[in-house]
Amino acid sequence: MNIALIGYGKMGKAIEAVALERGHEVVLKIDVSNAQELNAENIGKADVAIEFTGPHTAFENLVKLIGLGIPVVSGSTGWLEKMPELLDVINRNEGTFLYASNFSIGVNLFFELNKKLAALMHKHGSYSVSLEEIHHTEKKDAPSGTAITLAEQVMEVYTEKAKWVNDVVPRPEELLITSKRIDPAPGTHTITYSSEIDDIAITHTAHNRKGFALGAVLAAEFIKDRKGVFSMKDVLDL
Ligand SMILES: NC(=O)c1ccc[n+]([C@@H]2O[C@H](COP(=O)([O-])OP(=O)(O)OC[C@H]3O[C@@H](n4cnc5c(N)ncnc54)[C@H](O)[C@@H]3O)[C@@H](O)[C@H]2O)c1
Repeated sequence: MNIALIGYGKMGKAIEAVALERGHEVVLKIDVSNAQELNAENIGKADVAIEFTGPHTAFENLVKLIGLGIPVVSGSTGWLEKMPELLDVINRNEGTFLYASNFSIGVNLFFELNKKLAALMHKHGSYSVSLEEIHHTEKKDAPSGTAITLAEQVMEVYTEKAKWVNDVVPRPEELLITSKRIDPAPGTHTITYSSEIDDIAITHTAHNRKGFALGAVLAAEFIKDRKGVFSMKDVLDL
């Protein structure tokens, strides 16, 4: 498979290493210094594009890539308010797209555990629920995309929580996400249920970026010859 990497930072480089290990070729690398090289001719050499740039650039890149007719995997966080607009573009272009706030297999299993634990705990009103995420100091957005996914899963069960809030004292109808920035953490997420008597917590700790990179390459292999919008649930058959 020929891969175009859009974003060649920490994640782009980790994805390149995994892609080469799996026998793929990286035919295009775009970062902020050569962004103008993202054009029809160059993208035509690739079977699939993997986009990891960041909150401020992702949407524009994704619209461009879908317009160029290439299947796209994206992991950039912090732009999701524009997802409905992007889905429109994908529909109009009959495009192929897979987004995940977190590509690691472990986190996608953790998502399933989170939903199950929330369903179990909601019946027990003596426990309050809160989330915490820890990332490296270069991370541009807070809370993390993964923490937002986890919070949304909790709120599907805890319907009395109207919204999540970040790093403030929450009202009863708000779900607290605490964000900490500590190097070199690639990503730790904890959901805690706390009562006067005890605490129950589940934690996922990423040791490095390889898990995200492997998931992104698996996702690219999955969408290469498909049409439509997919998630990691499809890739991992969860
Ligand atoms: N979904 C996941 O599993 C997952 C995992 C880790 C990180 N992320 C997210 O991925 C994104 C990138 O993370 P990172 O750690 O690689 O960041 P990084 O800062 O190390 O790299 C970002 C790259 O994007 C490039 N870039 C910036 N503007 C660009 C533009 N206009 N066009 C093309 N390239 C441009 C930069 O030159 C750089 O190469 C972040 O949003 C991060 O939160 C997602």
